[in-house]
Amino acid sequence: MPHILEVENMVKKYGEFEAVKGVSFDVEEGEVFGLLGPNGAGKTTTISMITGLFPPTSGTARIDGHDILKEPLLVKQMNGLVPQDLALYPTLSARANLQFFGRVYGLSGKKLKENVEDVLRVVSLTERADQTIEKYSGGMKRRVNIAAGLVHQPRLLFLDEPTVGVDPQSRNHIFESVQRLNRERGMTIIYTSHYMEEVELLCNRVAIIDQGKLIALDTIKNLVAMLGGGVLRIGVRHADDHLLAALSQLPSVKNASLLQSVAQPNPEVQTPDLLHTLPAVIKIETQNSQQALIHVINYLEDQNIALLSLDILENNLESVFLHLTGKQLRE
Ligand SMILES: Nc1ncnc2c1ncn2[C@@H]1O[C@H](COP(=O)(O)OP(=O)(O)OP(=O)(O)O)[C@@H](O)[C@H]1O
Ligand SMILES: [Mg+2]
Repeated sequence: MPHILEVENMVKKYGEFEAVKGVSFDVEEGEVFGLLGPNGAGKTTTISMITGLFPPTSGTARIDGHDILKEPLLVKQMNGLVPQDLALYPTLSARANLQFFGRVYGLSGKKLKENVEDVLRVVSLTERADQTIEKYSGGMKRRVNIAAGLVHQPRLLFLDEPTVGVDPQSRNHIFESVQRLNRERGMTIIYTSHYMEEVELLCNRVAIIDQGKLIALDTIKNLVAMLGGGVLRIGVRHADDHLLAALSQLPSVKNASLLQSVAQPNPEVQTPDLLHTLPAVIKIETQNSQQALIHVINYLEDQNIALLSLDILENNLESVFLHLTGKQLRE
């Protein structure tokens, strides 16, 4: 697959503060690529530079081989940007807004009309298209905002947190539109979010950025596999060092340790004897949670130990982020 986007060592400084610290990645034509990171990571700054809103302090990007600094006008026609903050005229209808954006991109006449009707269908707003934007719900405004980024039929679409403040129904509309644009039209989509569930649903490859730096770049599958097999949390009546050691030795188990149980919120005030009579929750880190589970259950049964509770916590992008940075993706 050819690279439709190549980002090369992009840096953005605001005065002394370096918001983006040398980010590089490539995106293949036809991908839905996720740009994931916590608030303030530098996602918007990165895509603003790529789409020509302001120049990078250093570094550059190429779109279909064309340098954004050398051929800005050509590159702008190939990109669609759906900004994080709504950029619409509230007193105009959705249709009039889209016609305006189409004209900005040099469309007119029949082509303009066709494209506007087409993008209204993409975001499922044809029926409400003549209502003024100010009467729309937040989610519907977001969908018009998306249509505005599509009206000139870009090959590459940048969606910057398109679901923030959106009702569940509009959220689903947005997901469906993204998937349809990608599948039916082969559009390449760069999807920026700090919601890892969205990125897990829509994207195959992701770049995770944190504090202006790229900290991971791979398929979601590979990133999650890198961590191994998830965690089991089991509740038993008694947990002692002997049990923890035995569980740690089981196949597919990496380590077993005692978590503070709900029944003993403040272990310091309990006597050691009493501690051992309270239910305990054990955290079992595994190489493969499904396999480990079988061994754990067999072992407990052999030893006549009752299993009081069981949680299987599979790894996901959140755990990848936690592993790489030591903190949660969302504050
Ligand atoms: N115009 C500006 N002047 C100074 N600092 C800025 C400016 N714009 C952004 N920043 C800072 O740059 C950093 C990156 O901001 P950016 O908006 O790119 O983050 P983000 O990943 O898009 O975050 P969010 O998820 O909140 O949208 C932040 O620390 C932000 O405060
Ligand atoms: Mg942002």
